[in-house]
Amino acid sequence: MSCQSNNQGNNATKPAPGIAPGGEDLDPRACAEAVARAHDGLGVDPRIPGAIAGFDAPFYQAGLAGYSDAAMRIIARRHGCPACVTEALLDRTLLAGGRGFAKADLGEIHNNVPGGEEDSPLVGQIMGSEPAEMAAGALKMIEQGKRKAHEYRDLAYVDVTHHVVREKIDLADDDQQETTAFGAIDVNLACPVKKIAKKARGGHWLAEPAGAIRILEAVREALPASIPVTVKMRRSFDDTPEMIENFWKIFDAAYDMGCSWVTVHGRTVEQKYIGPSRWDLLKEIRDARPERVIFGSGDIWEAGDIFRMIAYTGLSGVSVARGCIGNPWIFRQARQLMAGEAPREPTIAEQRNVLEDHFRLAMSVNSTLVRNPEQHTGKTMRKFGIRFAQHHPKSEDVRLRMIAVSSLDDWHAVLDEFYREG
Ligand SMILES: Cc1cc2nc3c(=O)[nH]c(=O)nc-3n(C[C@H](O)[C@H](O)[C@H](O)COP(=O)(O)O)c2cc1C
Repeated sequence: MSCQSNNQGNNATKPAPGIAPGGEDLDPRACAEAVARAHDGLGVDPRIPGAIAGFDAPFYQAGLAGYSDAAMRIIARRHGCPACVTEALLDRTLLAGGRGFAKADLGEIHNNVPGGEEDSPLVGQIMGSEPAEMAAGALKMIEQGKRKAHEYRDLAYVDVTHHVVREKIDLADDDQQETTAFGAIDVNLACPVKKIAKKARGGHWLAEPAGAIRILEAVREALPASIPVTVKMRRSFDDTPEMIENFWKIFDAAYDMGCSWVTVHGRTVEQKYIGPSRWDLLKEIRDARPERVIFGSGDIWEAGDIFRMIAYTGLSGVSVARGCIGNPWIFRQARQLMAGEAPREPTIAEQRNVLEDHFRLAMSVNSTLVRNPEQHTGKTMRKFGIRFAQHHPKSEDVRLRMIAVSSLDDWHAVLDEFYREG
């Protein structure tokens, strides 16, 4: 399951600015310095680190299906990313998986396995069609398989309302809550991938607000109050007045039931990943609900865009998505901008270090999770390498060599050829 829709333009789309009439001349450095001064110099709405400890800057690494595994997240964190979200995991996949996400038979769950102490704070994202399955899946993620797999399935598959699911869960008192690898659960109401067997999931819920709200309620109720629930939405399913009204119903209900924040992607579900993100409409959402913590998403391609989006829209923060694939330096540059410094491009030596570290981390993540770790890692790293190549002065030559990588040896050969000089 993946939120990407490859043949319909997603991460192959050429970077272009979001629609922000009047915001064309915003100076990223001035915007970043204003953000750094905000909230009495904290630089982030205090409700954000209040909900998720350590989330100390107004940006995070988005869920990116097929990319944002523990290795990518750790590399991002080493460059200043304050928080990461996993890719969307289907509730059913989650419930079918083994205990603690640590088994080799978990299939795509391996992309969601927490990467230890360094991989924190981490928000686990779930997506699905049935409130009770979503509730049980969220609980399993938070508890990391503390109960036996069938117990979670029983919670989800008995013919009960989610209220009963909640009653059957005895742990959920705050004082019993142990530290968990996931600091929060994010519910995906944004993924544009088609419905299956006429069942809504992801962004398709934006056309069925009552069902979307039932899902959010089920997840919120199933988890201890100390675990924040957040929501990822598109700005609407499409541009009809009915769908815009649906957006507001779900958006307002989410906060009313205690969700901590919503991240709004400024494209419609129908748009998938094509065309610009509507920053002007994100600003309208912010202006209509000034008291809410709201994050924005869409067309964040470089560090300056983070602060341009915040300055233009007034939103509380920004999620960084395609702009950080093969570009962890975007986070370092964001921190530099907030500190009043010029953002620095990575040297060849820094690029080499990251390429080596990323491969090593990916191997260690994959070695316990997939059958042929080296082959799997070679394939994964190829798509990262192609994106890392953009920073190299001979980017096209590096890109072509990266396309052919399938093993650790191939990888080292590219590094030795192109990334030697410091
Ligand atoms: C390849 C790919 C995979 C994605 N997977 C997820 C996902 O699993 N969960 C999610 O919330 N968003 C996912 N998204 C959406 C991004 O988080 C983000 O909202 C979107 O790409 C818009 O931001 P951008 O224009 O800055 O890339 C994905 C996007 C792409 C391109």
